[in-house]
Amino acid sequence: MNRRLFTVGPVEVREELVKAMSKPMIIHRGKEYKKLHENIVEKTRKVLDTDMEILFVGSSATGLLEGCSRCGVRSKALGMSNGSFGKRWQEISESNGKTVIKAEAPWGEPIMPEHFLDSIDGSVDAVHFVSNESSTGVLNPTADIVDAIKERSDALVMVDGVTAVAGTDLKLRSLDIDALVFGTQKALALPPGIALAACSEPLLERSKDAKDAGYYFNLNEIHNKNTENYALTTPPVSLMYGLDAQLDRMLAEGMPARYRRHQEMKALVHSWAEGRDGLYAQKGFRSDTISVINKGDMPFDTFHSALKEKGYEISNGYGKIKDTTFRIGHMGDLTVADIKELIEKMDETLEEIA
Ligand SMILES: Cc1ncc(COP(=O)(O)O)c(C=O)c1O
Repeated sequence: MNRRLFTVGPVEVREELVKAMSKPMIIHRGKEYKKLHENIVEKTRKVLDTDMEILFVGSSATGLLEGCSRCGVRSKALGMSNGSFGKRWQEISESNGKTVIKAEAPWGEPIMPEHFLDSIDGSVDAVHFVSNESSTGVLNPTADIVDAIKERSDALVMVDGVTAVAGTDLKLRSLDIDALVFGTQKALALPPGIALAACSEPLLERSKDAKDAGYYFNLNEIHNKNTENYALTTPPVSLMYGLDAQLDRMLAEGMPARYRRHQEMKALVHSWAEGRDGLYAQKGFRSDTISVINKGDMPFDTFHSALKEKGYEISNGYGKIKDTTFRIGHMGDLTVADIKELIEKMDETLEEIA
């Protein structure tokens, strides 16, 4: 049966990318590998429109969030949160022995300067937050948050871009941040398995003498190997073939066109949701990649089972709003036509189960 994923990650992977990942294996200490590694770094810079260092490692995105906590936070971080993933990063820093000042914004609302300005003082040496909060479907005003921090503090600013990168234009060239972390299984539309981060010079400098930074996610160690176009440990070469091919595809589509496509897909899902019980996230701050939709009295489990029978899969709610919301992912290589098809199938299914 045809199986279509409109999930929040992992997402659907195009057949040509699956093929690209089945190329014969190569050894990761040779010239051929170095070229592949270098190409990925260069093309990622182009896709993100940045001159920052690009590091990557075989793990889910959390690996490099942890690397940022270990190497980018000296002793005290300000961890901002308005959902499950902001909270997760606070936990990551704490579990790595850092003190975390927590600034919380209400779920469904964006993080605004008033939520955190009182918490920044000279003792905070790093700030971290999520740009696109996948549990609530809120796209935080990333540039405004960064500007407000920079006005008050010299702390490093590290951003979780896991469900933003490649779906939302974060305008990285003009965003004064020290890390942007993401993974392959969201808007890059590849299988899970590679964590990537765009890193600033100050972050890499701080990483050099980070205490208890561990080995695998040690940004300094990864960076040192990266300068020779090598990985620190055995890299996921097959997935790297897929990433290399996908970066080419993204550059061929053109990033402005890719971002526009995400806007168009989002508009369709929003108008469907608004005809029902509406969206969870505050208007004006809604994600380009994930819609979190109020369930109302919809029997979601029955609906989703019937939809899956037809070959279409969406996602459950997450965290404390798991029971009252569900999520639709509209990211990666999905098209406007795919979203129209999903909406048709969802309407048909709702009629059938009514
Ligand atoms: C915003 C956000 N941050 C972090 C993560 C964790 O990423 P991973 O599972 O790739 O480690 C996720 C996963 O859904 C996410 O949506």
